[in-house]
Amino acid sequence: MLCVGIGFMPVAALVDYKLTMSLPPRTTADTGIDALTHAMEAYVSKKANAYSDSQAIAAIKLIGPNLRKVYNNGGDEKAREAMMLGSTLAGVAFSSASVALVHGMSRPIGAFFHVPHGLSNAMLLPSVTAFSISAAPARYADCARAMGIATDLDNNDEANQKLLIELRALNDELAVPTPQEFGIKRDEFFEVCHTMAEQALASGSPGNNPIEPSINEIITIYQGLWD
Ligand SMILES: [Fe+2]
Repeated sequence: MLCVGIGFMPVAALVDYKLTMSLPPRTTADTGIDALTHAMEAYVSKKANAYSDSQAIAAIKLIGPNLRKVYNNGGDEKAREAMMLGSTLAGVAFSSASVALVHGMSRPIGAFFHVPHGLSNAMLLPSVTAFSISAAPARYADCARAMGIATDLDNNDEANQKLLIELRALNDELAVPTPQEFGIKRDEFFEVCHTMAEQALASGSPGNNPIEPSINEIITIYQGLWD
């Protein structure tokens, strides 16, 4: 269930990286990949605009070089500060541009199998990016360059290849489990794939994706998490 309404709108937010210094590595990784996903999805979203683009790219520039650092050394204050600011800017970006297919598919995994939100995003980010990248190659290439894993010397195709490699490497290094490694039973997962795909579509988020997926394409991506 997504809780939406004026009552959930904060009057003020304390954005202070010092409050994150004791965050354990797993939660640091999951929330960090969630923030990266917010920024990337806002940037490739069909609702992206000049305002959200500037926040999204600024967020990716902060998160890309610092996500591994905060995971490997939670006491790195400079990296924690960059992640906090990046996360906040990514939130501003997706508040206006919305999120897309990763978030749409992620929420049902959380609801059915109690996978933390950022972790289910992390499980999906590489394969959903691979699915979507051909429809917005320039946008994804910008993400790769902002992350610092591609340069202006790379053309869009080269930058996109580097992005796909980086997202998988990031999951490996941040020890993101597969659904199986998380403890989900294959039979139970496959049994609800159709329902999860329906719920993903009903959320509206896949409609913002560079490629609007069919229900069968969503099911294929879910099932692909097991290969
Ligand atoms: Fe999220």
